Amino acid sequence: MKILVIGSGGREHAIIHKLLESKKIEKIYCAPGNGGISAEAECVPIGATDIEGLVKFAKEKAVDFTVVGMDDPLVMGVVDAFEAQGLRVFGPRKNAAIIEGSKAFSKELMKKYNIPTARYETFDNFDKASEYVKTLTPPVVLKADGLALGKGVLICQSEEEALSGLREMMIDQKFGKSGTTVVIEEFLTGPEVSVLSFCDGKTVVPMVSAQDHKRAYDNDEGLNTGGMGTFSPSRVYGEKEAKEVMEKICIPTVEALNKEGRTFKGIIYFGLMLTKEGPKVIEYNCRFGDPETQVVLPRLKSDLLEIFEACVDGTLDKLNIEWDEGGAACVVMASGGYPVSYKKGYEITGIDEAEKDPSVKVYHAGTALKDGKYYTNGGRVIGVTATGSSLDEAIKTAYKAVDKIDFKDKHFRKDIGVKKYNF
Ligand code: AMP
Ligand code: GLY
Repeated sequence: MKILVIGSGGREHAIIHKLLESKKIEKIYCAPGNGGISAEAECVPIGATDIEGLVKFAKEKAVDFTVVGMDDPLVMGVVDAFEAQGLRVFGPRKNAAIIEGSKAFSKELMKKYNIPTARYETFDNFDKASEYVKTLTPPVVLKADGLALGKGVLICQSEEEALSGLREMMIDQKFGKSGTTVVIEEFLTGPEVSVLSFCDGKTVVPMVSAQDHKRAYDNDEGLNTGGMGTFSPSRVYGEKEAKEVMEKICIPTVEALNKEGRTFKGIIYFGLMLTKEGPKVIEYNCRFGDPETQVVLPRLKSDLLEIFEACVDGTLDKLNIEWDEGGAACVVMASGGYPVSYKKGYEITGIDEAEKDPSVKVYHAGTALKDGKYYTNGGRVIGVTATGSSLDEAIKTAYKAVDKIDFKDKHFRKDIGVKKYNF
């Protein structure tokens, strides 16, 4: 089969690398891809949100199956556009991708169907939002309704901070139109766990759990980033938690979406917080997490293409999806200065050396390939993943590999896999 993968990050690299294990694959295209991805797939210079261009390409090349990695095209309706042309595509339609596209929608859905989440109110009027904030005891959480590159959440420690945050979102439109509607919610505490799941519209199959390190520096200090590293499994998510999440969150979410006429086929990412009152949903995403995918998919023993096809065909209940018992860790190596400002174009050395260990795989996020050499080309440059018979072994191997890789001003966290909790 000829496959098209839409996206350009480490997540898409991990999806492609796993798909290549499938015997049914004849060729993979990636739009637009990146330097590292071009070693495993043919990258085509079509933007991930150029829906018309993507459909045209898929038809011209007689692509058999398309996999959408990124959120923006899903929320824009790329799946509807492909289906309208009779093309087979993996991902939710626009009316289901709204679980990520609108936080106001997903909060309302959870309230209506009793899915555990933080208490909240939604506002599109600044004065009313301000009055409400004054009735709350900080910390207060403000969320811009729409997609904001993962930056639309403010945790405010005082009333003044919350009021100025509201002004930034609603009046100054710091997050563009996505902030004209704001969700104000209660602050929760507890460890965060990412549970990605396959869904065919009826059956939901959670993958192995993962945890993300979002802050730029060790000990969770510094600014929020797209993710500085991940590990799988979570150390705090056991069978008991998984059963509770399945019964109270995963199944009810899929049923709720069906009842609303928004059948979901694709990946539902449950961003959870394990609170003293039980697990609660912090956010839904309508696609694989990045960099969670880089530790979850390496642990998948089953054929990924078969699973994707079963999701589209509604036959997920017929599959037995198997996972490796051990663990995986991914250390993101970023450009110095990320997530604020950074330079690009530095040569990267040592990737081949690091990958000599068969349990190591370097997933490229922001690299360019020129004359056989890799150069930095983004904030998050690469994700160095290692698998092992235990999580601790995987972490050790990942850091050994990181030590072999060099580029000017490289920055990475030294504490991936170590998490402190204030339960
Ligand atoms: P989100 O973009 O929804 O993933 O939010 C970004 C981060 O903000 C989450 O990963 C949490 O660490 C934090 N966060 C979001 N909502 C809450 C909440 N209600 N209570 C505490 N922290 C939160
Ligand atoms: N790692 C968080 C996300 O993919 O949204």
